[in-house]
Amino acid sequence: MTTSAHELSDALIPDSTRSRQLYQRAREVMPGGNSRTAVFTTPYPVYVRSGRGARVVDVDGNERLDFLNNSTALIHGHAHPRIVEAVAQAAARGTSFGMPTEVEVAFAEALCARNETFEHVRFTSTGTEAVMMAVQAARAHTLRPKIAKIAGAYHGAYDSVAINNDGSGSLITHATRGIPEGVSRNTVVIPFNDPEGALAVLREHADELACVLIDPVPWRIGLVAASAEYLAALRSFCDETGAVFISDEVGSFRIDWQGAVARLGSAADITVLGKVIAGGMPIGAVAGRREVMAVFDPSNGSPALPHSGSYNANPVSMSAGLASLDLLTREEMRRINDLGESVRRGMSDILAARTEGWTVNGYGSLFRVLGPAATDASGNRVNLVNLLSRALLRRGVHIGDSGLGCVSTAMGTAEVDSYVEAFEGAVDDVVAARR
Ligand SMILES: Cc1ncc(COP(=O)(O)O)c(C=O)c1O
Repeated sequence: MTTSAHELSDALIPDSTRSRQLYQRAREVMPGGNSRTAVFTTPYPVYVRSGRGARVVDVDGNERLDFLNNSTALIHGHAHPRIVEAVAQAAARGTSFGMPTEVEVAFAEALCARNETFEHVRFTSTGTEAVMMAVQAARAHTLRPKIAKIAGAYHGAYDSVAINNDGSGSLITHATRGIPEGVSRNTVVIPFNDPEGALAVLREHADELACVLIDPVPWRIGLVAASAEYLAALRSFCDETGAVFISDEVGSFRIDWQGAVARLGSAADITVLGKVIAGGMPIGAVAGRREVMAVFDPSNGSPALPHSGSYNANPVSMSAGLASLDLLTREEMRRINDLGESVRRGMSDILAARTEGWTVNGYGSLFRVLGPAATDASGNRVNLVNLLSRALLRRGVHIGDSGLGCVSTAMGTAEVDSYVEAFEGAVDDVVAARR
């Protein structure tokens, strides 16, 4: 490889004068020109102008197939007419009130109908906030201080879960800089898909654990589904000790009509929801057993856990959610899961025929490509997946820098075929660039 890792990576970003100019302006008014670390890209991000169905158009007018779908949130693709109509009608009636609305009740009913463990539900504006409320609910319910989470797994930006969330899977506790030691001391990390290893850690802290928090298909540590044995071990531990079993399905709810843990053969006490349930509008939800959810109940005087939020259950997100769930039928979920399988198979076949050390993981409509470790001529680490995502961008397809992607209901076999064709070319680009 003649060029440095950095030069090669930057050279693969599509040439966009307008994006470059926008990024220069952005740097003047935002740290690093950015409000969301996940969308940061060097030398500049490609700015988007609009999206419709399976496609997005950038500020220079280039159209691309979008297989990232706002980090998997847009299960119906961009600007689905039913969701746009629901949002427009709700917004025209008023965007938020200091009073509850009828659509909040209807959306809560639609969610609770999906899974028998969703006895009561409560809304927030983001998944981060919903995880935070679920953890606080577990602490308020058990009056215990500690939480357990899977090493490397991501659950949003809340202090107690921003511990060992970098995907490394290391069992040595490390926190995002600035999180007080008192907080990180109360988060215990367990290995993924290792029932005995996890139980050994959990037993050490059994009397102090308020909850065991998992993502049943944790994307940051590779997007592999939790095994039935692993889930059963965690479920029994919680039954024995009274710790609350929390399944964070902000990303993974999309794998089944009832949600991920149900699909994988277990049942959570509390499920955290977000993303797909509101089809692209800001949303988070905590759904679970009445006895735990009772900590939020203000009807008998002051609740154990007061929880307010100016935009909780705002009618615009609730209306988008109702439309999104209505479109998310069992048949549609089966259809996009089958398309997901075709995408994964297509990518695996191409990689197996051309190169070594790559893996394609995923479940249902979700996929993630993982590449082998590599270095440039100077010994600097080269992120091959990042290169691949840039090569794909130049070939008209958008996936995450981390190799994360998903299928939406706006897609069919034509989009999957186009994706696989672009992927084949992009793999060749990366292989050629490394010669
Ligand atoms: C598993 C998981 N939990 C929580 C979050 C945070 O959700 P939000 O981005 O809506 O705050 C995410 C976001 O990617 C997630 O994947």
